[in-house]
Amino acid sequence: MQNPPAEPLGSAFSFDDLRRYPDVEAANLFASDAADRLILDTAAPALAASAPGETIVIGDHYGALALGAAAVHGVRRLRVHQDALAGERALANNASGLGLAGAYVSLDLGAELLEGARIVLLHLPRSLDALDEIAEAIARFAAADVAIYAGGMAKHLTIAMNDVLGRHFDEVRAGLARQKARVLTVSSVGRVTSAHSTWPRREFHSDLDLWVCAHGAAFAGTKIDIGTRLLLEVLAQARPDAASAIDLGCGTGVIAAALAKARPGIAVLATDQSAGAVASARATMTANGLADRVTVVRDDALSARPDASAELILLNPPFHIGAAVHAGAALKLFEDAARVLEPGGELWTVWNSHLAYKAALSRLVGPTRQVARNAKFTVTASTRR
Ligand SMILES: C[S@@+](CC[C@H](N)C(=O)[O-])C[C@H]1O[C@@H](n2cnc3c(N)ncnc32)[C@H](O)[C@@H]1O
Repeated sequence: MQNPPAEPLGSAFSFDDLRRYPDVEAANLFASDAADRLILDTAAPALAASAPGETIVIGDHYGALALGAAAVHGVRRLRVHQDALAGERALANNASGLGLAGAYVSLDLGAELLEGARIVLLHLPRSLDALDEIAEAIARFAAADVAIYAGGMAKHLTIAMNDVLGRHFDEVRAGLARQKARVLTVSSVGRVTSAHSTWPRREFHSDLDLWVCAHGAAFAGTKIDIGTRLLLEVLAQARPDAASAIDLGCGTGVIAAALAKARPGIAVLATDQSAGAVASARATMTANGLADRVTVVRDDALSARPDASAELILLNPPFHIGAAVHAGAALKLFEDAARVLEPGGELWTVWNSHLAYKAALSRLVGPTRQVARNAKFTVTASTRR
């Protein structure tokens, strides 16, 4: 059975109507790009011939790929994986605005997402490790004749991406560029399948006596970021009396794990919007015997936490929103940390000194003092008014 004809919604659908909300919105940040359109156009003949349930979307930023496939090409029973929760929520908002909430389901990267997949629409991630984990999962679980339409803006694509895809699939063809976007078409001829996932990777850091586990999408992989290291050096000074703490934007969970190890009585919540980060942090806690002491959740900022409820929040903030370098990503976390801290509670933040976040932290949270500084990074403590 083929997907139904797309009309009349297709004619009413416009990429320009999509919103990024609840992710940061600004005049220079967009909900879709030329790569979304080129991926859909390149895959159009395959989508037209496809049956419901055969198309998978991975890495959709705010729903342009999934909703374009549903509205313009009439594709139904889409399965979608997005690493960022804000993107997942934006897709849901955009879908309900278009009456397409029932056209897709959101799933983790794995068998349920990919079994039986014959078409994969992939907005290429920036990280080669993230791409490797995605390609490995497609090679393991998708149908024997799967075709992948993997696109991105040319300035974000590297030749190394072909090599990563080439580890899992023999045939990777680059299409012509259009509006500075390009699509790699990958066919399943001669694919290499492994019985087990090679993710998460793990590494023992003997200087910190800590295992770090990382899925492909997690910030810094199994390494420890140099900003994070500076925060770890002064962690003992952060509200030594706190009964609980939150590691906001926890990534692989390094800060949460170090804090829980150093303070046996403290309850720690580690939270991140990235599915890959959350899975990594859970693996890190298990590897360090901390799974019963640190709760790991996926959340956009601290949306699930009540106002004025936290004593201590630790944060190494993001400076990217997807591919764009934008201060809004950090400011959103400062604002939500301020909401969630109790009066007198503290936000400890490490930041690249050139970003000069002290004024924003003082304005949004409260009086902010410098705790440490090295050649590149500054650690501050902000006390909630
Ligand atoms: C610079 S990394 C720090 C990771 C980890 N804490 C460390 O020190 O290695 C910033 C983290 O913030 C997360 N992040 C970005 N925006 C977020 C949001 N709106 N809500 C929750 N986490 C977010 C990213 O996924 C990333 O893991």
